[in-house]
Amino acid sequence: TTPRIDFELKPSAHPLSAAERETVLADPGFGRHFTDHMVTISWTEGRGWHDAQLRPYAPLEVHPSNMILHYAQTIFEGLKAYRQPDGSVATFRPDANARRFQNSARRLAMPELPVETFVEACDLLVRQDADWVPGSGEESLYLRPFMIANENGLGVRPASEYLFIVIASPAGAYFPRGVKPVSVWLSEEYVRAAPGGMGAAKTGGNYAGSLAARAAAMEQGCDEVVWLDAVERRYVEEMGGMNLYFVYGEGSDARIVTPELTGTLLPGITRDSLLNIAQDMGFGTGEARISTDEWRTGNADGTLTEVFACGTAAVITPVGEVKSAHGQWLVGDGEPGPITKRLREALLAVQTGRAPDPHGWMHQL
Ligand code: COI
Repeated sequence: TTPRIDFELKPSAHPLSAAERETVLADPGFGRHFTDHMVTISWTEGRGWHDAQLRPYAPLEVHPSNMILHYAQTIFEGLKAYRQPDGSVATFRPDANARRFQNSARRLAMPELPVETFVEACDLLVRQDADWVPGSGEESLYLRPFMIANENGLGVRPASEYLFIVIASPAGAYFPRGVKPVSVWLSEEYVRAAPGGMGAAKTGGNYAGSLAARAAAMEQGCDEVVWLDAVERRYVEEMGGMNLYFVYGEGSDARIVTPELTGTLLPGITRDSLLNIAQDMGFGTGEARISTDEWRTGNADGTLTEVFACGTAAVITPVGEVKSAHGQWLVGDGEPGPITKRLREALLAVQTGRAPDPHGWMHQL
């Protein structure tokens, strides 16, 4: 068992006024506005976790020689707090994020934050800034826990000090004008992660490396990049920063398959939740390697009916058009498929408290 950490509470003397907050909540966008507070916890070699605080959201003071700016020892998480029908607030699977955060920490030679401390830090911030949790529909308060190296020096080695921080940002419906399918470019030029690399860790470098590939996809007229495996450039891995799902067949006979976790994919919590929800709904499910050839021929002969991407931020995004250096095709008729829409609605119903929670995913505050 881990010793409980006591948080020092230093609430802001200047929170945003209710009127100003409501103006932000009327059109929050994604990741543009932040709440009044943040939680910080320090870690020092030989001392462990210390100085846990809830304090006003404010800039950090960082020396130009801080290791984080040079060697990118940084990991992050993303999870959401949803307003429930009775007015209370609940977060979705924070313990799953906490465990993935520990796995990411190990891969980047960083200290592991106890699961209970991670969840408690999130709880504390959401309780303090509960008025920032939007009140309706798909809107939520997006939590961004992260950890950075916090030692000055240019030697390449694990830092001896770290800072864990949680910030929160109100998030509107990801698609304010309705769910719209994206077009994707199958990238054979860029690779997201190779065996033995950092692909299964949620770390900034993976996202930095994706930007040029997404720009190349956009030059091809596509919205997003689809990553293929590094070794054969044959198997589908992810789309941008989201996991992918393939729907075979139709109606109650449908089978829902996602690329298996080979170590180069990010083990998405939405990905895992949808495997469970699809089973609950009576669909067949599977985790397998899916080649780009299978994707193309499956769409051509009609056995592959729908494709969508999933993640915490956007929940579920249908894929409409596929392009590669060797040709292009449509998924189904290019419109969001019925199973894609049903799964999206089923997951959001659990998250917003409109449906039962058989897996105990909601963490009530
Ligand atoms: C997701 O939630 O799908 C993400 O990967 C988070 C993104 C904003 C980095």
